[in-house]
Amino acid sequence: MEVAPKIAPSMLSSDFANLASEAHRMLNLGADWLHMDIMDGHFVPNLTIGAPVIESLRKHTMGYLDCHLMVTNPLDYVEPLAKAGASGFTFHVETSKNNWKELIQKIKSHGMRPGVALKPRTPIGDVYPLVEAENPVEMVLVMTVEPGFGGQKFMPEMMDKVRILRKKYPSLDIEVDGGLGPSTIDMAASAGANCIVAGSSVFGAPEPAQVISLLRNSVEKAQHTMI
Ligand code: DX5
Ligand code: ZN
Repeated sequence: MEVAPKIAPSMLSSDFANLASEAHRMLNLGADWLHMDIMDGHFVPNLTIGAPVIESLRKHTMGYLDCHLMVTNPLDYVEPLAKAGASGFTFHVETSKNNWKELIQKIKSHGMRPGVALKPRTPIGDVYPLVEAENPVEMVLVMTVEPGFGGQKFMPEMMDKVRILRKKYPSLDIEVDGGLGPSTIDMAASAGANCIVAGSSVFGAPEPAQVISLLRNSVEKAQHTMI
């Protein structure tokens, strides 16, 4: 399998008042990406950050900003987020049934990497057309909790989705998000996930570096045993 492990601490669990130093700390401790949860208080019952905060953070880091759009109208966010310096733009399939082609095209033409996310109750088949399109998404984010908040319990039953995706698309980036940490990573890694979002388990640990490397080792080990 070709897909590189990417460990992405969720900045939702960081100290927002010290975002730049939290970002530096995570990258120095071995994180590959910084996962940025953008919520509009409508698609999910929580409100977090938007383009202005991404723009401020971008002035302090060259790191990959993996933006997860939990918003009702992702199309409206493409331009502002591109200008702000976002790297990845992952929208939810539930919000984009009718305009995903336009969205993918716009995300790419603005120099960002498109991904699609799905909520726990959304069937996996809903994302196939976006992965198989002529102009496809480059990542699928399988939510392993209901989107909206950090610190929730991992849903192991979502691993069927990851397994199906990995079997169908051996070189696709598959991200899991919600409740990932030392006690759940092996389930996700052996199912085939390679991009791992982790908020409370990383920021809440006495030694976040150890958790980051444990997550990475688990993905690498699972990949080697899969071959
Ligand atoms: C939830 C967010 C997650 C969240 C994960 O809606 O998409 O990125 O921050 O947090 P943990 O790892 O604490 O479940
Ligand atoms: Zn997220």
